[in-house]
Order: sequence, then structure tokens, then C-alpha cells
Amino acid sequence: MTQEIAVLSAKPDVALESSAVRKVFVKTYGCQMNVYDSDRMTDALAKDGYVATDVMEDADLVLLNTCHIREKAAEKVYSALGRLRDLKKKKAGEGREMMIGVAGCVAQAEGDEILRRAPAVDLVIGPQTYHRLPEALQRVKRGERVLETDYAIEDKFEHLPAPDKAKTKARGVTAFLTVQEGCDKFCTFCVVPYTRGSEVSRPVAQIVAEAQKLVDAGVREITLLGQNVNAWHGVGANGEKWGLGDLLHRLTQIEGLSRLRYTTSHPRDMDDSLIDAHRDLPQLMPYLHLPIQSGSNRILKAMNRRHTTAEYIALIARIKAARPDLALSGDFIVGFPGETDEDFEDTLRLVETVGYAQAFSFKYSTRPGTPGADLGDQVPEDVKAKRLERLQALLLKQQNEFAQACIGKTIDLLLEKPGRMPGQLIGRSPWLQSVNVDANASQIGDIVSVRITGAGPNSLFAEVVS
Ligand code: 5AD
Ligand code: SF4
Repeated sequence: MTQEIAVLSAKPDVALESSAVRKVFVKTYGCQMNVYDSDRMTDALAKDGYVATDVMEDADLVLLNTCHIREKAAEKVYSALGRLRDLKKKKAGEGREMMIGVAGCVAQAEGDEILRRAPAVDLVIGPQTYHRLPEALQRVKRGERVLETDYAIEDKFEHLPAPDKAKTKARGVTAFLTVQEGCDKFCTFCVVPYTRGSEVSRPVAQIVAEAQKLVDAGVREITLLGQNVNAWHGVGANGEKWGLGDLLHRLTQIEGLSRLRYTTSHPRDMDDSLIDAHRDLPQLMPYLHLPIQSGSNRILKAMNRRHTTAEYIALIARIKAARPDLALSGDFIVGFPGETDEDFEDTLRLVETVGYAQAFSFKYSTRPGTPGADLGDQVPEDVKAKRLERLQALLLKQQNEFAQACIGKTIDLLLEKPGRMPGQLIGRSPWLQSVNVDANASQIGDIVSVRITGAGPNSLFAEVVS
């Protein structure tokens, strides 16, 4: 399952813009895979003469890349569509056309309903069919309202253009690379197996070629993405079976690729070779997002997670034995149907036992079509809210303690982008924390040795060690 992030818009292109070029505004909701997909859509549209804009009013095409993971995420789409309908009308009054497209997981799950409820929408396109975007837009231009969610046979990665060099440069020194999509785990709360389909792994050669292109464009850190990234499997050069650990080994052979991360993992797919990779590969950052969702064995069973808390704790001990400085992150759901106070206390106890550097936590949200939606004993909203508050307070305390413990340490910092203050840059610590440091803009992309001097609520402060 992918980790939730803040809403982003596509960055404007570096290309010179003229009034003749068509402009696309992409709004991304949800996880990192949607961020990756939005960039790939922008790249696919570039071949059609589109450049990205971050001004929605200027766009000839507005694409919403949507998330269906919780009810609130899906609702956001319909309210955004209401606002877009008004903008489309206003622009039509001024003689300017604007197409509206809905992509992503809401498109896949509710395509027909979107077309019915939102007449201003011209195009609905699912996450596996982005390579057909230029052709779908031609159909829209011919007056059709297009629903493009049927993906039974085609592989989008074979048809989507590779990351564009100039755009990659503009996007920065870190990049996402999707290596796996879909999920066969069927956790009873989750829509992903229905929206993203069953597990598919991209072939080694395709991944290595894309990673090389990214590095050639100046990328120093790649995060491999997958809803179940550690379920990735492939075939090596001599026909042998590969798991994610083997793929990580192969990627470290790319000169100039200094850092690797991967997300999101399922505890059942952490195999020995992947654990060994944490011991053997200095490029693999000591940070692991390994969701458990609940600390109650009864609830884990009802969620169909197919492991116990004891197995999870033992697994973490093995990974930490391989990489002692590893920091953990996780996801939690409170108020799954049937969760009692005692179950919830078990979750708090598990968090105390494991100790997280960072974690994401959510109130259970009923998703139509998932087995959880049919369970009785739904937990009242006010109970969920109270539990979430307690859990988040504990997780925040652990996050702050982790940050405080970093003070005084000397670490390698990848300098990513300008900071808020002049003369300041922001980088990421090995444990994915934002770190502010005084440094020159020409150093973006460098990995420098810094000493952590302080910790704020959302970031650390450091000084370069000469
Ligand atoms: N309700 C609440 N949270 C959910 N997640 C997935 N499905 C639901 C749901 N129905 C959470 C899980 C997952 C994260 C990305 O979103 O914790 O790991
Ligand atoms: Fe992750 Fe479970 Fe959803 Fe699969 S079904 S994406 S393992 S939460």
C-alpha cells in the first residue's frame, strides 16, 4: 500500500511557452505512485505539444489524478469538479475551450458515475491506460465523452514514454520509479486490489533503463514504488529468479546513483535477500515503511493481514540486526469494524514496543465493494476520533523523540532544493527527515557531511562539517 502525501500540482515546464502551445494543469491527490503517474502523463502529453502549467485558469486541459483510498479522498474529486465546471463555463464565455479529465483510482472505480454526475467532464481514464491519453484526447476533440478504463491486455509501461531528460532535470535530484503495481493481498479494508488490479512487476531491463535515464538527467536518489513493492519479482540476466533485494543490488551498479529507497512494503514479503540488502548495500537508506495497521491479533485477522504482532516484531528485530541504524515508519487504521477498547490498547502497546520515527494513521473509512463494508459492528465516528487523537499523540511524541536523538549526529545529507531563507538549502537525512543547512545553490545534488544542531516540529537544522 502506498504512503499518503500532500496534494501537489505538476511543476511548470522549463520549456519556453508561447501562446500557440497547449497547456495542461495536473492536480495530484493521494500517494507517490500518483505523483509518478502524473509526471508520466505530462511526459506523454508533451509528445502532443502540451506543456505543464501551475495556473489552472491558463490550462487547455485540466487533469485530476485522483485517490480512492478513503471516502474523504474520493469526495474531494467531486467538489473539485464542481469548481472546474464553473471555470469551464466562464472560459467558454470568453471563447476559450477547456477540457476536463479525471484520472487515477476514482476514475477506475467510479468512471460511469463521474460521467453521469459531472457533465463537464470530457474524459475518464484509469491508472493502467495513460499511454492512450493522446488518442483519447483526439476522441474528445471529435466530440466524444471518453471512458478509458479497460486495461485487460495492455501494459502501460511498455507504451508510456520514458522520463524526459529536461523535465527530469527540472523535477530535481530525487525521483520516483514505479517497479510494481497492484495488489493480491486483499486486506479487507482496502480498495487497491480493485482499483489498481492484481500484482504486476515491471521487467528488470525496463527498470534499469529508466533508472539510468534518471541518473543521466542528474538524479542522485531513486525511490522504487509499488503498492506492494517488496512483492516485486523478476528474472535476472541468467534466467534466475530475482526478488527486490536482487533488483536493489543491480541498481547499485549504476554509477552516480547514490541513494535508494523503496515503498510500500508488506511484512509477509520481507524475504532474506531483501533483509540482507539492508546489511550489504550502503546506498540503501536505513529507513523502512512497513505498515502493520493494528496491534491486535484479532483485528489483524479480521483485516486479512495474515500475520501476527509477534511475527511483525520478530521481523523488525531481524531487519534491525542487519541494519542497526534503521528507522521505521508505518500506517495504522483505528476503528476497524469490531475494534474494542482492548484491541486499541494493543495498538498503543505495539507502537510503544516498536518505536516509530514517523507514521501515518487514519480512521477506518468504509469502502464500498470491500469485505470490510459488509461487516457488522462498525465503530462510531466519535470513538474513532478519540482513538485517533490518542494514537497520533503517541506517534508524534515518538517522532519528536527520534528527531531530538538526532541532535549532535554527523550524517550525510543529499542537498535537494533551495530553503526558505536565502543562502539555505533543504536536504533529506537518511531517515527521510527534512534538514535545513546553510549552503550554496550550486551544491544542489551534492551529498555533504553535516552535523545536526537542532530539531523543529517538521524539520532538522544542521551545519556543514568541513
Ligand atoms: N480506511 C482507512 N484507512 C485506509 N487505508 C487503506 N484503506 C483504508 C480505509 N478503508 C490506509 C492504510 C494504508 C494507507 C495507505 O491507507 O493504513 O496502509
Ligand atoms: Fe496494501 Fe493490503 Fe491494500 Fe494490498 S490490500 S494495497 S497490502 S493495504
